[in-house]
Amino acid sequence: MDRVLDIRDLSVTYHSREKSVFAVNRASFHLDQGDALGVVGESGSGKSTLAMAVLRLLPARIARVEGKVLFLGKDWFAASEEEVNALRWKEISVVFQKSMNSFSPVHRIGDQIEDIYRVHEPKATRKEILDKASELLRLVNLNERVYRLYPHELSGGMLQRISIAVSLLHRPSLLILDEATTALDVVTQGQILAELTDMARTLKTSRIMVTHDISVVASSCNLVAVMYAGHVVERGPTSSVLKEPLHPYTKGLLSSFPSLRGEKTQLRAIPGFLPDLSKRYEGCIFAPRCPRAMDVCSRELPYETAITEDHSVVCHLYGGDVS
Ligand SMILES: Nc1ncnc2c1ncn2[C@@H]1O[C@H](COP(=O)(O)OP(=O)(O)O)[C@@H](O)[C@H]1O
Ligand SMILES: [Mg+2]
Repeated sequence: MDRVLDIRDLSVTYHSREKSVFAVNRASFHLDQGDALGVVGESGSGKSTLAMAVLRLLPARIARVEGKVLFLGKDWFAASEEEVNALRWKEISVVFQKSMNSFSPVHRIGDQIEDIYRVHEPKATRKEILDKASELLRLVNLNERVYRLYPHELSGGMLQRISIAVSLLHRPSLLILDEATTALDVVTQGQILAELTDMARTLKTSRIMVTHDISVVASSCNLVAVMYAGHVVERGPTSSVLKEPLHPYTKGLLSSFPSLRGEKTQLRAIPGFLPDLSKRYEGCIFAPRCPRAMDVCSRELPYETAITEDHSVVCHLYGGDVS
């Protein structure tokens, strides 16, 4: 199995004159070809920051990024700006929640697709580009009729489908989707997620799906990393994490969503708020909100414990005293 991405101890600290914000703390996980990893957690937990760091889109002037990332075997943080620019869109690509708003209102979709493609392949002909785009548009259930249209003539769901097709024009190995379907109605969201799954299978693209919505993970990711306040607290195959959540935060997160099997269950939000990320905490970051907290939890940082070969948790309840 080819390893696409290997993230080890990735930390991101935003800095300004007044304060530092510890947005991501020693996150580790990896992704093989064809994997779809869901990064899930409530708003402010550091998911977008993690994605931006992996994309190398965080300028040093606003954030310090530490740790090691191997992308297609390459030391990604040691790669030069030129190398990164050469691989961006070609091997690593992104769709944001707002991507659908980034089309210019005054140009037809076909012309915009052509311009975007030419950034990396200046010599490509219009026919080559649109043939390639048509193939991808079919995978998201659109066709070349959209080329003649202006953005305002298309729905949000259609524009986001075009954004996804555009992000895949150069057949990247890795596609990062940051809340890419969040702004859409549930029916459209479900359709796009299904299309994405088929598409990724056809193109053999690996995905990282950043979302606050566990149902997105349940429906379209084989792996999941649960984030809380800048920390990955649990990770593993989606099937085992959803069936047997280990971390008290994951349990809380799952119980605050309606049952995935469609039964009506009580919505139980986790009481309390995210901690202030400009402070350093000695113990487990979740301890102040944790229903299972013990004395040790506010004193010592728990370590990651592997419960099975690929399912692990960072919590003192699971003998997190082995370093
Ligand atoms: N440019 C920035 N400067 C300082 N803090 C930031 C910046 N961007 C995000 N943050 C902070 O980093 C934390 C994580 O944010 P983010 O990665 O956007 O979380 P999520 O995507 O999970 O909602 C939040 O506390 C947020 O306020
Ligand atoms: Mg975000």
